Amino acid sequence: MPRHVREAIEDRAGEVGPASLKRAAAEMSDAYRAGKTPPRIAGAERTAAYLVTRMPATYAAARAVLRETHRLLGGREISSVLDIGAGSGAAALAALEEYPAAAVTLIDRDRALLDAAREWLPQARVLADDATRTSTLVPHDLVILAYSAGEIARLPLATLWQAARVALILIEPGTPRGFAVIRAARSELLAAGAHMIAPCPAEGACPVIDPDWCHFAARVERSALHRRIKGADLGYEDEKYSYVALAREPVAPAASRIVGRPRHHPGLIELETCTPTGLTTVRATKRDRDRFRSARHAEWGAPGI
Ligand SMILES: C[S@@+](CC[C@H](N)C(=O)[O-])C[C@H]1O[C@@H](n2cnc3c(N)ncnc32)[C@H](O)[C@@H]1O
Repeated sequence: MPRHVREAIEDRAGEVGPASLKRAAAEMSDAYRAGKTPPRIAGAERTAAYLVTRMPATYAAARAVLRETHRLLGGREISSVLDIGAGSGAAALAALEEYPAAAVTLIDRDRALLDAAREWLPQARVLADDATRTSTLVPHDLVILAYSAGEIARLPLATLWQAARVALILIEPGTPRGFAVIRAARSELLAAGAHMIAPCPAEGACPVIDPDWCHFAARVERSALHRRIKGADLGYEDEKYSYVALAREPVAPAASRIVGRPRHHPGLIELETCTPTGLTTVRATKRDRDRFRSARHAEWGAPGI
């Protein structure tokens, strides 16, 4: 995340103190793990715990998705961004990395998270409202729901789509439940005339079959504070996410996409790849030097080789 945001979060966390932060972070993770409905983020401790432990991860996922969406949308102008269920504005911050001049609007019902967002997005228009009160969904070029579509009861998908002048992006946790939200939205919006930007190489039925789910991973550096309150040793974590980005006008999506971590064997690399005709394992052996070199640089979530 941008340095000024990281510093502002450290300041807020300092006001709460490590013991309370640790307790709030543990309560949040337990509730996420146990609960079918994610808990409301309420109170200064939980807000700070979200900022320290979750926001860097949701930002990393949004950053990866925004980068790929921008690449495939090419020069199409995005001068306004609507971040729905914006929380502390992670997705809006990621969008500004791609479209620095865009005007940003944030909607959320959680005033504490919106107050935090105001600190690092002072230029944003901020609406403290329930996203299902659809009168607030004014058209913007890009509409994003990051980790919020699954939380918003009675999500008004048709209204969200109407609000998206150029593109709509949905990002969810990379879990079976998160993917189910993405898959259902993908089907409904393609049927309503949307066009695929990413990650899918085609607009036909999704070839992923239960109990598998389509998801990707974004590497997140853990701050010292994050490691301390989570009791973690590793200096990084991999945030798993599922997503779909859809456009109003046709876009040329990737010809294929790598949908799993590349598997490296001696002299052989295997890439689980989604293609317009279904899922396939692409193999590259040392005998084909160019292909092997491409496979060595291939990444989960990138277009296929
Ligand atoms: C997991 S947080 C994600 C926040 C942020 N988008 C991110 O990526 O870090 C989900 C957000 O959705 C918001 N939310 C849930 N239901 C909502 C509703 N009906 N209207 C507005 N916001 C809602 C919550 O307040 C919370 O801030």
